[in-house]
Amino acid sequence: MTTPQLIQERSAPPATLVIFGASGDLTRRKLLPAVESLARHNRLPAEFALVGVARTPMEDSQFAGSALGTRSLLDKPQLQGGIRYVSGGYDNPETYKQLAEVLDELDASRGTSGNRIFYLSTPAEAFQPVINGLAGAGLNHAREGSFSRLVIEKPYGKNLQTAHELDGIVHAAFDEHQVFRIDHYLGKDTVQNVLALRFANSIFQPIWDRSWVDHVQITVAETLGVGTRGGFYEHAGAMRDIVQNHVLQVLALSLMEPPASFEAESLRNEKVKLLQAVRLPTNRDVADLAVRGQYTRGGTRDDLMAGYREEQGVDPLSRTETYAAMRLNVDNWRWAGVPFYVRTGKRLPARLTEVALQFQRPPHLPIPTTQLTDLEADALILRIQPNEGISLRFGAKVPGHSFRVRTASMEFSYDQTFQEESPEAYERLLLDALLGDPTLFIRTDEVEQCWRIVDPIIENWAGDQSPIPTYEAASWGPTDADRLIGRSGRKWRTEV
Ligand code: BG6
Repeated sequence: MTTPQLIQERSAPPATLVIFGASGDLTRRKLLPAVESLARHNRLPAEFALVGVARTPMEDSQFAGSALGTRSLLDKPQLQGGIRYVSGGYDNPETYKQLAEVLDELDASRGTSGNRIFYLSTPAEAFQPVINGLAGAGLNHAREGSFSRLVIEKPYGKNLQTAHELDGIVHAAFDEHQVFRIDHYLGKDTVQNVLALRFANSIFQPIWDRSWVDHVQITVAETLGVGTRGGFYEHAGAMRDIVQNHVLQVLALSLMEPPASFEAESLRNEKVKLLQAVRLPTNRDVADLAVRGQYTRGGTRDDLMAGYREEQGVDPLSRTETYAAMRLNVDNWRWAGVPFYVRTGKRLPARLTEVALQFQRPPHLPIPTTQLTDLEADALILRIQPNEGISLRFGAKVPGHSFRVRTASMEFSYDQTFQEESPEAYERLLLDALLGDPTLFIRTDEVEQCWRIVDPIIENWAGDQSPIPTYEAASWGPTDADRLIGRSGRKWRTEV
């Protein structure tokens, strides 16, 4: 068996990374710091160049210094002479002509060999003009022996139909093997660790099914509000922003069948099969299966947080959800009858992403219930962030002469166990794109399946004129969410 790309230690080939949306928030906060870190860890080839493209006029040096406070990407010896900025409209053919000249010049001066990665970090409206512009200048086709790749940020469409349309635009210019759809959660070490935990060990597999698992909770909780992204978020909401992508990706990795290998296609096939087995909500069951909410002003007197409708760029009568929770079912042999509760929200009391498998109670307890002090059901909690690690929760005898049982836990912490640092998600994914490894990127059929799951809920909410449920900032979401899970006698985890 050849070693799958995912697990090879490889060095990146010569290439130029072109970032569209170079003056934007994601470029400044994530992409440029990722390039800097890759350079610092000697992960970039000597023949590397970076080109920023955006409408805002800027000098090369301004672009190079736009992310790192007082430092600049140009401080990295490997990057000196290798950073350019092209300013121009995305629908102006001149922009791409100028870009093509810069790329040729960099091939000659930096030895980047005609290899190009085009990273779309623009608002979604710009995807089509940029792709058309690239194709118009022939940049979608690489020279013989070189590559031309397209990396696309989310949102990939705003429903199934628009995702199909976007695919049509993308595939008119690029073949699927050239396309790398980003979900940055897949770049997180702890998300990849779901694969290690499940498939590099034998002790978890036998209990990873309906015979042992009572239910699973997946939480992506954020303390931040929408900040300056109100304009974008108004059209997204929690369902499109987090559930359609991050939550469903984590769900797929956590519940899929073991792949035969970690080859990109083998792994992605299993994710798709799992997503296909998720029961699609119908209009009639949305009220039973899904809950939304919007945060209102809250917090403490010293730390009072604005309500969503008061945020910059947000309609004062907005009906956009900043919280979403769902109960999902997976109709396959392994998971029939097990409920999966997922939730995400902004302005919750803690930043926390985790997958928690709660196991069934023992069929018979030979201990009187009076002796069970605060005994929770057994659980395995995969902490994606923060405090990255895993907890196994179980009952243990309380020391002493009587026989009492209380919940205890065994902890694995990334920090304490490993000396190695986790790379940032974007660092990992940029490197994979340079290497041409699609394993941690989303295939078109995955995007499609994810939209099929969330579309009925989003449509139902859009047509529902009743007031949107609210929750105070810094609380755990609307009370409807407690009812959603409470109907089956279960409750959301609140331990952090
Ligand atoms: C992004 C969303 O995809 O993920 C943001 O658009 C969200 O709204 C972010 O804040 C969360 O990412 P992380 O890595 O901080 O959990």
